[in-house]
Amino acid sequence: MGRAPKEPIEVGDEVTVTLGAMVHGGHCLAHPRGHTAFVRHGLPGEGVVIRITEVRSKLVRADVVEVLEASPHRVVPPCSWAHAGGCGGCDFQHVSIAHQRELKGTIAHESLARHGDIDAGALTAQPLAHDDGLHWRTRMRFSVDGGGTAGMLGARSHGVLPVDRCLLASASIDALAIPDDEWRGAQSIEATEDSHGRASIWVDRVLVSGPRKARQQVHHRSWEIDGTAFWQVHPRAAEAIVDHVLAAGAPQPGERWLDLYSGAGLITAFLGEAVGVTGAITAVESHRTAVRDGRRALADLPQVSFVGADVEAWALPDGVDGVVLDPPRRGAGAAVMTAIAQAGPRVIVYVACDPVAFARDAATLGAHGYALDALAVLDAFPMTHHMECIARFVPGSQAAAGQVQRLEANRLP
Ligand SMILES: C[S@@+](CC[C@H](N)C(=O)[O-])C[C@H]1O[C@@H](n2cnc3c(N)ncnc32)[C@H](O)[C@@H]1O
Repeated sequence: MGRAPKEPIEVGDEVTVTLGAMVHGGHCLAHPRGHTAFVRHGLPGEGVVIRITEVRSKLVRADVVEVLEASPHRVVPPCSWAHAGGCGGCDFQHVSIAHQRELKGTIAHESLARHGDIDAGALTAQPLAHDDGLHWRTRMRFSVDGGGTAGMLGARSHGVLPVDRCLLASASIDALAIPDDEWRGAQSIEATEDSHGRASIWVDRVLVSGPRKARQQVHHRSWEIDGTAFWQVHPRAAEAIVDHVLAAGAPQPGERWLDLYSGAGLITAFLGEAVGVTGAITAVESHRTAVRDGRRALADLPQVSFVGADVEAWALPDGVDGVVLDPPRRGAGAAVMTAIAQAGPRVIVYVACDPVAFARDAATLGAHGYALDALAVLDAFPMTHHMECIARFVPGSQAAAGQVQRLEANRLP
């Protein structure tokens, strides 16, 4: 049966619909008046009234404004700003924490099927802690309005909402009470907390309080990194990623590995320890400060060398045993994935923060003779649609559905 022909639709119209699948980005699909709509604040199967917020040539966007038939997974959002027209920061406050993790697993599965032609079997995102999904953000960005009030941006908006308290903020950042102060003249405020609970405030990237260097500790290793440089935001994410990468790649003494998009060498350090002084790890990272901080933190590992370069512009050496890559949200792209496959490693471990970009990169690896054979989805960003996937690829053809192993290396606190 074809879809109903499109009827006129405008911003502000309210339409009753049944919501379809949840897709990447935390939206449910719906078809008001024959249009394809991306709907926030809903859950699959719900009967709802939606209000149209944006009309484009191929899709419309909308918010749920009334729930007529609620999903059994719907809960009262802990945050009073999580509603239509409210804060744009969280997508899943209205969803039970257990179901958030089921949804992320489904989205990862669907992304791999649609963009990578891989059936990874049923997936569920693993929690990083026994938690309610709140108070985990160790890095927060506040926007400032013309009157000097710091708050959060609305969804797909530049408007600053006077959110007095973000429930995702870590305890130390919450204690800074940034929205209680006046920040006249500033554009944005960043608050960071390191793994020793020390908080800093940066106004338009200038440090105004707290330490400039963040001290980060993961297992027995420590880093002093520039406070504004990249570090995993969930306090348990760095350790969980390291543990999963080591479980996936099983680096052996004497092996040669590459850590692409290495940051300050979080993964590099543990790979370096595993391969020992008879092995070699090359870490490639474009952010100069991260390279400098990484060299300093890993100075005890002569088998590690950092290259300050864009991965895309760097010629991969032949004869590597393993490759780890942890690219930014856009993924690594076909050229980098092809070069990795052509280097011929025995294993490739991909750490991905965007399931769609990851699926496209997985398809490139598939076209060059590498198959996905183990996968974990980590709930490193509770209450939001974001997730972290850790995947192992090995030479061979893609196994049938159900043959992709689950990677499990999480030790919950
Ligand atoms: C998701 S972070 C991962 C860092 C590290 N694995 C960690 O967990 O701390 C991605 C890193 O890639 C770096 N990056 C982004 N684009 C890059 C490029 N074209 N070439 C090299 N590094 C890049 C960023 O500076 C950032 O440090």
